[in-house]
Amino acid sequence: MVDGNRRLHGTWASRWTFILAATGSAVGLGNIWKFPYIAGENGGGAFVLIYLGCILLVGVPVMMAEVMLGRRGGMSPINTMNHLVREAGAHPLWRSIGWLGVVVGLLILSYYGVIAGWALNYVVEMASGSLQGATGKESAARFSALLADPQQLLLCQTAFMILTMGVVIGGVTRGLGVAARVMMPMLFVLLVALILYAVNTGDFAAGARFLFSFRYESLSWDGVLEALGHAFFSLSLGMGAIMAYGAYMPEGAPIGRTVVTIAFLDTLVALMAGMAIFPMVFATPGMAPDAGPSLMFQTLPVIFGNMPGGLFFGTLFFVLVTIAAWSSSISLIEPGVAWLIESLGFNRVSANLLLGTLCWLLGIGTVLSFNLWKDYTIAGNTFFDVMDFVTASVMLPLIGLLIALFAGWVMKRDQAKEALSDTSPLLLAIWHWLLRYVSPLAIGVIFVFGLYNKFA
Ligand code: PFF
Repeated sequence: MVDGNRRLHGTWASRWTFILAATGSAVGLGNIWKFPYIAGENGGGAFVLIYLGCILLVGVPVMMAEVMLGRRGGMSPINTMNHLVREAGAHPLWRSIGWLGVVVGLLILSYYGVIAGWALNYVVEMASGSLQGATGKESAARFSALLADPQQLLLCQTAFMILTMGVVIGGVTRGLGVAARVMMPMLFVLLVALILYAVNTGDFAAGARFLFSFRYESLSWDGVLEALGHAFFSLSLGMGAIMAYGAYMPEGAPIGRTVVTIAFLDTLVALMAGMAIFPMVFATPGMAPDAGPSLMFQTLPVIFGNMPGGLFFGTLFFVLVTIAAWSSSISLIEPGVAWLIESLGFNRVSANLLLGTLCWLLGIGTVLSFNLWKDYTIAGNTFFDVMDFVTASVMLPLIGLLIALFAGWVMKRDQAKEALSDTSPLLLAIWHWLLRYVSPLAIGVIFVFGLYNKFA
């Protein structure tokens, strides 16, 4: 069965292609757009520390579990879970892990494509030079004008979804794999160039102080829940993306070391993005680190627009964001595509067209929530806010909890060990202990307190 499906979808050309593809999935808008702004809103250092804790104690063990389940199943998350649940003789309800993952992935892609579309729009806008010399007010007006224009947003979202489908249609080896090998090194070089730029033109010390100094008073339970949800979002956990990528992993590649490398690279890019952005924020009068979601789209253009070389580096920055989003979005659609191919006899092209169109249609809700539907809210939350909160803060930790429980408690210990036989015994023991006790407890406590705090 496993080999049959390996032939059906193909495998990564090497362990490094898997690392690059999974890092490509992990590194995205979450690192460059979301991490800096939520760190900014939650006061910087303390949030960063909690986030690192979540990555290490919850993210890494759950990611190892996902890759392990994926490689053992060898199929789309839905069929992988069907197979493993049967193998473990567990209650069929555990199969919902696969289903929920695929559905949540598509829900996320629906709004992810809209925001990635903004980045695409800013590539053109920055390159055109129209933001050169812009004041804070002008930049804010420009961003508001974009959000107020459903046609523009729809155009950008459509362009981005076409890019996404284009790669996934190419398949695992030639499409996803080649994209990862080209895009990820490029992204890293661009990021290093931007940091060097920030060191030269920004207030590096202030940026570093903000990100790394611990100010306890700025942290709330709400922030802790956000940190946990973001750890899942950033590592692409809980929605089958990593499980699907794990299924295409060559036999014999050590899962433990591979996952630690991916988590390290993902965290490094988030911190690097912060170190590219905050020094520039602190060096520009009138700009605040807690500007929220508009930090990247409103604040940065002002900064780039008023700094030497800003036209070039500003354009480069948004190219970087678009590439990062692109290599992530392909992993949001792949699990569903793989399932349609395996179970319903679709080919890659038709599976992509179907799911891409569904996400695109649902994304129109997000497009409209910034303009025509702005006033349709639930307790002050727009359609986009609800989608973001339900998927990133609620569903991801929940599915992550189910994965930890399944791999830690339900699956036979020997089966898990066998699937991880290439991992050192010490790492294996630590993993199992974290997965069984620490991750579920941490997710449970943070989840309950976080939700209570939000709604009480
Ligand atoms: N990890 C991506 C980011 O940080 O932007 C988002 C993401 C991609 C989440 C793929 C989930 C996923 F399956």
